[in-house]
Amino acid sequence: MQQRILSGIQPSGALHLGNYIGALRQWLDLQHSYQCYFCIVDYHAMTVRQNPDDLLHNIYALAALYRAVGLTAKNVVVFKQSDVSAHTELAWILSTFTYMGELERMTQYKDKVKQHKKNNNVGLFTYPVLMAADILLYQANLVPVGEDQKQHIELTRQLAERFNTIYGEVFTLPEYFAAPQGARIMSLDDPTKKMSKSATTEWGYIALTDNPDVIMKKIKKAVTDSGSEIRAGKNKPAITNLLTIYSVLSGKSVTDLEQLYLGQGYGKFKTDLGEVIITSLEPIRSAYNELMEDPEQLIQSLLADGANRARVLGDVTLTQVKTKLGVL
Ligand code: AMP
Ligand code: TRP
Repeated sequence: MQQRILSGIQPSGALHLGNYIGALRQWLDLQHSYQCYFCIVDYHAMTVRQNPDDLLHNIYALAALYRAVGLTAKNVVVFKQSDVSAHTELAWILSTFTYMGELERMTQYKDKVKQHKKNNNVGLFTYPVLMAADILLYQANLVPVGEDQKQHIELTRQLAERFNTIYGEVFTLPEYFAAPQGARIMSLDDPTKKMSKSATTEWGYIALTDNPDVIMKKIKKAVTDSGSEIRAGKNKPAITNLLTIYSVLSGKSVTDLEQLYLGQGYGKFKTDLGEVIITSLEPIRSAYNELMEDPEQLIQSLLADGANRARVLGDVTLTQVKTKLGVL
């Protein structure tokens, strides 16, 4: 039987180059050898207050982007988390197998609490349990995500093991799958922080839908390290990050790039990097714009079909779990 992948992204605004390199590009490669479930995790997005119109728009936009990047293989199921109620049901069940201390340790939770002091809701805390439910419901073998999610996958494995130990083999233990390069793309205006949508300024990230002028401006403005050498290294976080992006998108190794720009300043390097990013993102942007001309049509065909296919599999697992627990 073909192995299975599950991954998800929150519909909370423009996706950026970090999402693309850390997650989406991996999905693209894997879609041909795995049965894939790609989720739009709208319930996760609700841990931060959302405007309903914006949320719906962002759901459409993310579905369009999944298509636009090229997730179009037959065995790819794209669906919205809230369409499959088994996710929240299983999340409740799993929460009774999760210890407070385990959730208190989660780095993303600690960061989010700092960011959202006025809305430190219970959902922020139990967020990883819902994520575990997303994964375990589909008996996923592999979860391709950026490095920031590794801790959540480890928790998911713990919960699965805990359940299996008591009730027998119900859940598949999922593996974390990281991009070989670029699992953590850093912010352009502060290379000590990961590139993020919730960044305070737009200079920190490149959105997949940014136009060429904006991309070039952002790269030109990206901070650099002291010294003028184009070389990767521990004491050169900014240039290392730019070289990583360049390398992943161009297919040239970092060593080759260092060689290529030996003795040259940042100017030429940045212009070339800007061009590489623009060329990589252009087909995505144009496919995205075309799909967004008729989002209703997209939702009906893509998400309705995806939800039906996801429900079938989710129900099998949930039925098994409920039977084991004695509630069915
Ligand atoms: P999010 O935008 O937080 O919903 O993340 C969606 C996916 O992109 C997850 O797999 C993240 O791990 C990945 N991701 C987010 N930010 C980065 C980044 N700066 N570098 C690499 N991967 C990232
Ligand atoms: N927590 C992930 C993030 O913030 C999104 C997510 C939710 C996810 N459920 C998932 C990722 C299941 C992989 C698998 O990026």
